[in-house]
Amino acid sequence: MTKKRIVITGSSRGIGLEMAKILIGQGHIVYGAVRNPEGASDLQAAGPAGILKLDIGDEESINNFCEELAGTTDSLDILVNNAGITSNDLGADRRQCNPWQIDPGTVLEETRINALGPMMITRGLIELLEAGENPVVLNTSSQLGSMVVGALMPFDVAYNVSKAAVNMITVMSASTNKNIAFVALHPGWVKTDMGTEAAELEVPEAAGAIIDSLMSLTIEDSGRFIRWDGTDHPW
Ligand SMILES: NC(=O)c1ccc[n+]([C@@H]2O[C@H](COP(=O)([O-])OP(=O)(O)OC[C@H]3O[C@@H](n4cnc5c(N)ncnc54)[C@H](OP(=O)(O)O)[C@@H]3O)[C@@H](O)[C@H]2O)c1
Repeated sequence: MTKKRIVITGSSRGIGLEMAKILIGQGHIVYGAVRNPEGASDLQAAGPAGILKLDIGDEESINNFCEELAGTTDSLDILVNNAGITSNDLGADRRQCNPWQIDPGTVLEETRINALGPMMITRGLIELLEAGENPVVLNTSSQLGSMVVGALMPFDVAYNVSKAAVNMITVMSASTNKNIAFVALHPGWVKTDMGTEAAELEVPEAAGAIIDSLMSLTIEDSGRFIRWDGTDHPW
């Protein structure tokens, strides 16, 4: 197996942490990006190649992170833009954030963090990715970013809009860069802090399936929106 150089944002907990653990176990070179490296004890215990500080909502932090990574490795094969928030993280109640209720500032802030953060991280790492082997950028979206499913689950317009923006950024990246595969991912409804205990998938089940799908992606897949199991998700 070829060892891949992989960056995972938001790898302190949830899906990102589980993906990091599995990929490290498979022998890959994993760099975990977290807001608070000192507090990332579970990630530390998994033995990553590095733990780097990154706040995806802070442009200076993104610049520092990209610089630090460029000083650490000369290429990257996979970037998993996994970190993300819901309106709960911005102090709202996400069940009561439909278009008639939400503070417009919440929509802007959530889109800035969930969509523009990953876009700027990808931009900052583009040279490392261009130097990678069969490079892939996996942008974590959600079924709620789909026009089809989002319309059926109209609770949190800030989250749905931010993930729809992730999808658009993914297809635009795919159409303007033909060297890297850009793929949007619905990771499933997963039992994390965000997904809650009511969710359908256990974290290891989702993370394992996402990794299997991720490892089979090639440039031919660029511009797709996939589910955790690699099947096409409707836009
Ligand atoms: N769980 C689901 O059912 C589900 C469904 C569809 C899509 N998703 C998406 O899947 C991704 C992972 O979700 P999850 O369920 O694993 O969520 P989670 O358990 O709530 O974990 C979120 C992760 O994102 C990090 N994060 C949040 N804001 C950040 C920021 N400003 N800068 C850097 N890191 C930040 C958190 O770091 P801290 O520990 O520092 O807070 C944490 O590592 C998200 O993009 C989410 O939208 C999840």
